[in-house]
Amino acid sequence: PATTTERPHGQVLVGGVALSEIAEGHGTPVYVLDEAEVRGRCRAYRAAFPEAEIHYAAKAFLCRALAHWVEEEGLGLDACSAGEVELAVTTGFPADRILLHGNAKSPRDLAIALRLGVGRIVVDTPAEIARIAAAVGSGGRQKVMVRVTPGISAGGHRKIRTGSDDQKFGLSLRGGHAEHAIARVLEQPRLELTGLHCHLGSQITDVGPYLVAVRRLVGLMARVRDTHGIALPELDLGGGHGIAYRPGDPTLDPARLAAGVRTALAESCAVAALPVPRLIIEPGRAVVGPAGVAVYRVLAVKRTPGRTYVAVDGGMSDNPRPALYGVRYAPRLIGRHSPADAECVTVVGRHCEAGDILADDVPLPADTHPGDLLAVPVAGAYHLAMASSYNLVGRPPVVAVLDGRSRVLVRRETLEDLRARDVGL
Ligand code: LLP
Repeated sequence: PATTTERPHGQVLVGGVALSEIAEGHGTPVYVLDEAEVRGRCRAYRAAFPEAEIHYAAKAFLCRALAHWVEEEGLGLDACSAGEVELAVTTGFPADRILLHGNAKSPRDLAIALRLGVGRIVVDTPAEIARIAAAVGSGGRQKVMVRVTPGISAGGHRKIRTGSDDQKFGLSLRGGHAEHAIARVLEQPRLELTGLHCHLGSQITDVGPYLVAVRRLVGLMARVRDTHGIALPELDLGGGHGIAYRPGDPTLDPARLAAGVRTALAESCAVAALPVPRLIIEPGRAVVGPAGVAVYRVLAVKRTPGRTYVAVDGGMSDNPRPALYGVRYAPRLIGRHSPADAECVTVVGRHCEAGDILADDVPLPADTHPGDLLAVPVAGAYHLAMASSYNLVGRPPVVAVLDGRSRVLVRRETLEDLRARDVGL
């Protein structure tokens, strides 16, 4: 996780800055993003997969500074809306290193992506093939990939599994859906099919499903070669690499994944007598998740006969993941030393909903009281990216830390911001 240093008296430093100092300076809740950790993770991916194109999945979290770091580290970007594409391109991200996804791309998504010149568009449904081709200006040619569901169930939760046939993403290998779409793409003179894509799911901790996907997609590439006489040059295996939310949780190490995928790809291509395609991967969570820490202030402690509730000043509006997927976090007291024994408590948010639970059955010092600071590690992915304005509390800021210095990347959402959109009466 984030480059954390422990100091006496319960001080915890991230990127050389004390979290309690950030809480004092910027208020709470506040999200802290460790720039060196993000960059280090990008480098680890590049070292593990020197032969591959690595696209950071912007849906995990995107702001201009992050787009800039990722770009400087040589990664591309996986975007899934005009908003993500535009933010990246206006920050100076080279559009040709952006890949656009989406099971329901709007006319605006396509128009903006094409105008800005995204490198590839991933076809997710047959009907959009003609739409994309029509939106490409005359004389233009757009690179596309076809997203395939390889019939594999993998991922940390039912809601984040995307490799099986029965769901909204991609074109099934079974029943000839993928092959049919490939044929339609090849009929379009304004589209250039560069390869196949799949994304199995998220928070996957085994290499196995990726190896099955490689074999099935190379099998499809061989059928495309047999039918159409072309060897597709690219294979995108998506993201989904699992990280540890609590100490001891299993993770998917990029180097272990790379070794497995490399072997499976070489073997399958040798069997099919195909050239080895250029590999693309799209990690999101694994790049940014462990680099983020959420810091909350305790507002109330309530004891019931069976349980102690510790209520903080954020909750499901900045981190909906426990409520959505039942994910377990490991919050900890920071900013002071506690001599007290640990007590098993439930950390809840401030929202008007009983399900607003951030962490159930976690140990905190028995003297935890209002005014204390709690840090939730591994908060960099799919927290603020999925934040809402529930109860109009305003979304927290993002503060970057590096070499003992901090700076605001995204400011706190104010009540004025919230009111500004409310234009009717
Ligand atoms: N590529 C595609 C096409 C995707 O749909 C996703 C994630 C990724 C790459 C990146 O997956 P990652 O490496 O971050 O696992 N909100 C959920 C996760 C949803 C993932 C959606 N797609 C969560 O908080 O767990």
